[in-house]
Amino acid sequence: MSESRKNIVLIGFMGTGKSTVGKTLSKKMGRTLVDIDQRIEEGQKRRIADIFEKDGETVFRDLEKRAIREAVLGSGLVITTGGGAVMDPENLSVLKERGIVILLEAQPDTIYKRVKDSRHRPLLHLPAGQAGSNDVMGEIRRLLAQRQPQYDRADFKFATDGKSAAQVSDEILAKLSEEEEFGKDWF
Ligand code: S3P
Repeated sequence: MSESRKNIVLIGFMGTGKSTVGKTLSKKMGRTLVDIDQRIEEGQKRRIADIFEKDGETVFRDLEKRAIREAVLGSGLVITTGGGAVMDPENLSVLKERGIVILLEAQPDTIYKRVKDSRHRPLLHLPAGQAGSNDVMGEIRRLLAQRQPQYDRADFKFATDGKSAAQVSDEILAKLSEEEEFGKDWF
């Protein structure tokens, strides 16, 4: 297999299943998984919520950009990104240059159900008293609309509502194997 095998990059909003599908897909393909948020947390030795709280989003975005630049130096990886990572056009460009970018999608109410109890999503769980704290669904809709133009630049899109990670992974694999460009040595 060549050293220049493309990476497979999962993008999409919070709660669309990037991390769980990334795990299943990388296992099914025998590829190494690189989770950008996890890389940032390991490098910083603290949680993303803590980075947002103590240093703010700008510092987080800078760390995210660096982690992405580092990750794309690899080849043949499955790379999972945080929901806001592709809002920086340079991030999306380097990911596309070195990989096939796959968007995972879900309806706002599915996203809400998946994220409502999570404690590690600072953008949707602002401390009480700040804008957005009482209207998670409104914030999901607002952010989704703002981000859609960048998400739409993905090479392929998959809906994840009502599906297991294994089902979504199989759909992705079927699509990829159809892609002549990448041929059989792709796997
Ligand atoms: C973010 C999504 C999070 C994480 C950070 C910011 C976003 O990742 O990167 O909290 O801007 O949408 P997930 O999409 O894995 O929740």
